[in-house]
Amino acid sequence: MLSRMRILECASRDEAADLVAAEVLAALRSKPDLVLGFATGSTPVGVYERLVRAHREDGVSFGRVTTFNLDEYVGLSPDHPCSYRIFMRRHLFDGIDVPPQNIHFPPVEGADLASACREFEARIRACGGIDLQLLGIGSNGHIGFNEPTSSLASRTRVMTLTDKTLADNARFYADPGEQPRLATTMGIGTILEARRVLLQSFGFKKALAVRTAIEGSVSSFCPASALQMHPDVTFYLDSESASLLTMRDYYRRAREDEARLAPEDA
Ligand code: GLP
Repeated sequence: MLSRMRILECASRDEAADLVAAEVLAALRSKPDLVLGFATGSTPVGVYERLVRAHREDGVSFGRVTTFNLDEYVGLSPDHPCSYRIFMRRHLFDGIDVPPQNIHFPPVEGADLASACREFEARIRACGGIDLQLLGIGSNGHIGFNEPTSSLASRTRVMTLTDKTLADNARFYADPGEQPRLATTMGIGTILEARRVLLQSFGFKKALAVRTAIEGSVSSFCPASALQMHPDVTFYLDSESASLLTMRDYYRRAREDEARLAPEDA
């Protein structure tokens, strides 16, 4: 497999979701005991809708799949409507047949969170590593909850959320006092070990972060820039998120060439 970083500017968010869902379903066909890394936020919802549809309408089974979510808030009860566990149940897990015991979230409770985080990492390794990791990106360039200045070698741990992230997510909390200021997240080092990474980004709000991640220097100040070190990462962008890329035409041409040279991959 050739190392590659693919930048796909999609015609719409729907096209991006179609392409990512197709990648997940193709990977599942070739490996029914696939290990999937899942993300939360509004960005991956279209992919989850398509996976639920594939299960309901086409009988696709996730019965042997194992999942690891990227992050979870510290200080929210697991049944709080803003918890990522509830988000994933609502958007995906309640609609497919993944066995509950195969679903994993980073630990957010207990006296010794550091050792629970090490156990979470050990669990990923015991399952053979993550085959396919879905990602979104924060407007400050974060991936998971790896905020700017996270070590590029970081592992699963508790992070203090930045003011920018708190402001971006404040709309979900009727009572501002309820909004958690801490989260447990897979580290950048953890994410880089996934065999394939599929990152989606939509909207102009993310355009600068996307440009910095793809065309800037690798820097802990833009955690998503660490993906430049990954051998198999694809960015699925809508035109707004792609709008500040300086080599936009080049990425379009590269996509056309790829479709011509390796139609099954494009
Ligand atoms: C949160 C999540 C990230 C996600 C980001 C973007 O901060 N921890 O994993 O990528 O939000 O969210 P959205 O997709 O809603 O823009």
